[in-house]
Amino acid sequence: METAEYNVAAKFYDLEFKDVVEDIPFYVDYSINQGSPVLELGCGTGRVLIPIAEAGLEAWGIDVADEMLLLAKEKIARLNSKVAERIHLIKADMRDFTLPKKFKLIIIPFATFLHMKTKEDKEKTLRKIREHLDNNGLLIIDIFAPHYQRLTKKRDVSIKEIEKEGQKIVVTTFNQYDYKGQLIHISKFYDVLQPNGTIKRFIQKFTISYIFRYEMEHLLEKEGFKIVNIFGGYDKRVYDYESGKMIFIAKKA
Ligand SMILES: C[S@@+](CC[C@H](N)C(=O)[O-])C[C@H]1O[C@@H](n2cnc3c(N)ncnc32)[C@H](O)[C@@H]1O
Repeated sequence: METAEYNVAAKFYDLEFKDVVEDIPFYVDYSINQGSPVLELGCGTGRVLIPIAEAGLEAWGIDVADEMLLLAKEKIARLNSKVAERIHLIKADMRDFTLPKKFKLIIIPFATFLHMKTKEDKEKTLRKIREHLDNNGLLIIDIFAPHYQRLTKKRDVSIKEIEKEGQKIVVTTFNQYDYKGQLIHISKFYDVLQPNGTIKRFIQKFTISYIFRYEMEHLLEKEGFKIVNIFGGYDKRVYDYESGKMIFIAKKA
């Protein structure tokens, strides 16, 4: 299992992405319609998994990062015990896992599938999903549509300010685009301003891929899936590229 890149900055994750909530009702609705059990690959701190369990479903989550799973466990420990009992967290790699269940719904929210950098990694993950998907099950993979404006830049930088218990944290993100490998090398610097005026820096580095629409369609079809829908947003609007989102809904072919 490769080093889990999310460990170093796990403690900032929920703060940094606290405004990312619009996908949650989408996954909760699909979970209710499909029924238990539901599996999330790369569940992180439980941002999506916990609301699914709160809606009454048996929710399984796997992730490679101990620190992300630890934060999820802390949140689950604070839940009503009936909800907590419905959640199962497992440390595992999405390319190679075995669970004692078939799932009615398998989801990979928030562009997490893009952590699969090579063709082989993507294929391995889809095979594992197929193995664990109920015959009437659905798969949802939510990734971004690679915008040409973004890809013409070669590199870009963004800065965001967050606050943790009154402490200011400046998050600087550098993206470097590798066109040949269809990869984005990401470096994130979390600068935590200390009361004495000094800065404590945490550095998270990782690489993701970007995937084009027909590439994803071919991948899914090659690995034995049939695409049911491609949405461009959580309101289920038809994919149109401009929205920047590609949400693939697939079932076993
Ligand atoms: C962008 S976060 C998303 C977390 C959560 N799904 C959410 O929507 O908030 C990506 C997560 O995927 C996990 N991850 C990355 N590569 C993985 C792999 N090969 N197998 C399992 N989890 C992985 C990371 O540790 C991280 O927690």
